[in-house]
Amino acid sequence: MKVTVVGAGAVGASCAEYIAIKNFASEVVLLDIKEGFAEGKAMDLMQTASLNGFDTKITGVTSDYSKTAGSDICVITSGIPRKPGMTREELIGINAGIVKDVSSNLVKHSPKTIIIVVSNPMDTMTYLVHKTSGLDKNKIIGMGGALDSARFKYRLAEALGAPISDVDGMVIGGHSDTGMVPLTRLATRNSVPVTKFISEERMNQVMEDTKVGGATLTKLLGTSAWYAPGAAVSALVQAIACDQKKMFPCSVMLNGEYGMKDICIGAPVILGRNGIEKIVEIELNDAEKAHMKESAEGVRKTNDLLEL
Ligand SMILES: NC(=O)c1ccc[n+]([C@@H]2O[C@H](COP(=O)([O-])OP(=O)(O)OC[C@H]3O[C@@H](n4cnc5c(N)ncnc54)[C@H](O)[C@@H]3O)[C@@H](O)[C@H]2O)c1
Repeated sequence: MKVTVVGAGAVGASCAEYIAIKNFASEVVLLDIKEGFAEGKAMDLMQTASLNGFDTKITGVTSDYSKTAGSDICVITSGIPRKPGMTREELIGINAGIVKDVSSNLVKHSPKTIIIVVSNPMDTMTYLVHKTSGLDKNKIIGMGGALDSARFKYRLAEALGAPISDVDGMVIGGHSDTGMVPLTRLATRNSVPVTKFISEERMNQVMEDTKVGGATLTKLLGTSAWYAPGAAVSALVQAIACDQKKMFPCSVMLNGEYGMKDICIGAPVILGRNGIEKIVEIELNDAEKAHMKESAEGVRKTNDLLEL
């Protein structure tokens, strides 16, 4: 199993580290345009191998796509991150050019690859890869919901005073501060709806904290977060590489599901060796449907800024 991660910055390196530590891939190639940067990150990570007990070989390259040839899975994290006060949508000008160029280079050298898009605005960047890469629709996956759901579970556990392992929950919709749809109605603590334990007021707070999860960290760190994003990407990579058939909310091209077409937005999917094996349609109530519709309008507005 060969995995390429483009962008050896905060998220790319964190993702490569988690993939290596989980020890399911034979090789991870880190690629960056900054001369020597990916080589340095790869060497540093390889020097943790004997300490962390993994055999995955990590190599770093500067812009040399020939070294990525034959990758089963490619992750795109290249691009600029948010600074405090910025929205993800504001990154489109620079990141669209980078993502288009990177995905076409990846597909040239690995025509059978599955691509996971991380660069923001992620739903629109995923849509861009759909429109420009020529890959089948099941092979293009946007990572946002897996991270947003992890942040949701963190906030739910905090409100419940419970361990995170007791909590289950999912965030669908667009990967933006206003677009996320945390499914509070379906969240559970050991199969019991969390609404049984948390007041409506506290639940609203959980929802708000979840939606601004990324912005809160960007304000604290001065740039966007990397540990949880890296871990979320590595979970998707593992589900595909190990054919786990695990369910995650991912940004996926809809063709009628959830009443939408020609849009990439967060919905639950089953991930396995073929990438997206199935889009799972869950019954939403009227409020959730309205929230999804509004979220989609926001994503479409950003998609309209693309020069396709
Ligand atoms: N989808 C999500 O949930 C999520 C979460 C966190 C961050 N992000 C996004 O991921 C992206 C990366 O964030 P980061 O914190 O790692 O940023 P970073 O600045 O630390 O790293 C980005 C790296 O991309 C490299 N790069 C730029 N152009 C390139 C190109 N054409 N080819 C190859 N490499 C190139 C840069 O040299 C840099 O090393 C940002 O767009 C950020 O908004 C998404």
